[in-house]
Amino acid sequence: MKILLIGSGGREHALAWKLAQSESCTELYCAPGNAGIEDSAICVPIKVDQIKELVAFAKEKAIDLVVVGPEGPLVDGLADALSAANIDVFGSSAKAAELEGSKGFMKDLCAKYNIPTAKYGRFTELEEARKFIEAAGLPIVVKTDGLAAGKGVIICETQAQAIEAARDMLSGDSFGSAGLEVVIEEFLEGEEVSFFALADGKTILPLSSAQDYKRVGDGDTGLNTGGMGAYSPAHFMNDDIERQIIENLIEPTIAGMAAEGRPFTGVLFAGIMVKDGVATLLEHNVRFGDPECQALMMRMQCDLAQILLAGAQGRLDEVKDQITWLDKPALCVVMAAQGYPASYKKNTIIKGLGKANEVEDAYVFHAGTAKDADGNIVSVGGRVLGVTAIGATIAKAQANAYASVDCINWPQGFCRRDIGWRALKSDSEAA
Ligand code: AMP
Ligand code: GLY
Repeated sequence: MKILLIGSGGREHALAWKLAQSESCTELYCAPGNAGIEDSAICVPIKVDQIKELVAFAKEKAIDLVVVGPEGPLVDGLADALSAANIDVFGSSAKAAELEGSKGFMKDLCAKYNIPTAKYGRFTELEEARKFIEAAGLPIVVKTDGLAAGKGVIICETQAQAIEAARDMLSGDSFGSAGLEVVIEEFLEGEEVSFFALADGKTILPLSSAQDYKRVGDGDTGLNTGGMGAYSPAHFMNDDIERQIIENLIEPTIAGMAAEGRPFTGVLFAGIMVKDGVATLLEHNVRFGDPECQALMMRMQCDLAQILLAGAQGRLDEVKDQITWLDKPALCVVMAAQGYPASYKKNTIIKGLGKANEVEDAYVFHAGTAKDADGNIVSVGGRVLGVTAIGATIAKAQANAYASVDCINWPQGFCRRDIGWRALKSDSEAA
């Protein structure tokens, strides 16, 4: 099978690494890829938003399966364009990607199909938003309807702050067209978990859980980021919570999307709040999480290419029993450029990657790297590496990941030193 993977982040390196191990994958291309992905795939310099060029490349190479990593090209219709050219694609149509592309759409779907989620309102007018905020409790959460690269969610402690956030979004000044409509919702307390499932329009194939560390600083302090680390599975998952997630949140979403004439094919990534053993949906994404994907791929034991092809072709029911998981946790530590998530330098040289990959059960996924003219690996993004390891326990996976981090010589980079702390804290409390 010839596969084309779309994207250039740590998530895509993890997918490329796993696809390259699949016996059924004979040729793997990645557009545009990064310096690490080059070890697993042939990188081609086509950007993720060049839909026509991507379709033409897939035709020219007689690609059997396209796997789309990020949400942007899905929302923009890449999967539709590939399907129209009779190319199998694992990724949602633009109409189904609305689940992530429009928070208002997702909330209305939840309301219509009784999927438990925070109480909410949708607004395009500030005065209406103000009335809603004044009648609601605190804290309150104000969100852009559209995609805002993880920055469009503001948790407000006062009504004044919430009104200000809504005004700022609705004006179009800070978030452009993504903020011209807002969702305002009740604040949910609890512990967050991500759950991933594959879907082929009708059948779902539950994967596993992960927990992400979104704040930039140790102890969950500082600004929000795309994710500074993750581990899988989440420490508090049990059969009952998993059943609730599948039966109450994921199955009705897939059934509802089919009923709406928007069958969902691809990865459904549910962001969930769990409080007192009850799971409530925060949001849906239509892709793997980054860095959650790195931890998931390290644990997955199967021919991923076959599974994703079955998903693309509506045959997930045939492969349901093929996925097994390593009975060990995996943990990913993100190394970012100093200054991230605000401004940071690019093109700084990273050394020691070879040694880092020699650490027991560890692998360094690249997120924002390129090769310079002298063959050095240099940083080209905010989040740059995802140092991932497995271990018999979360503590061991964490020790392996940080042993690998410590081999990396990159003075302009940094990482959190406490990824996995929630799980380790609950272990020590249980002991
Ligand atoms: P989202 O982009 O919707 O995932 O929101 C980003 C993050 O904001 C989530 O991962 C949560 O940590 C937080 N968040 C979003 N909505 C809520 C809510 N209703 N209550 C509490 N936290 C929330
Ligand atoms: N790590 C969170 C995300 O990928 O959205």
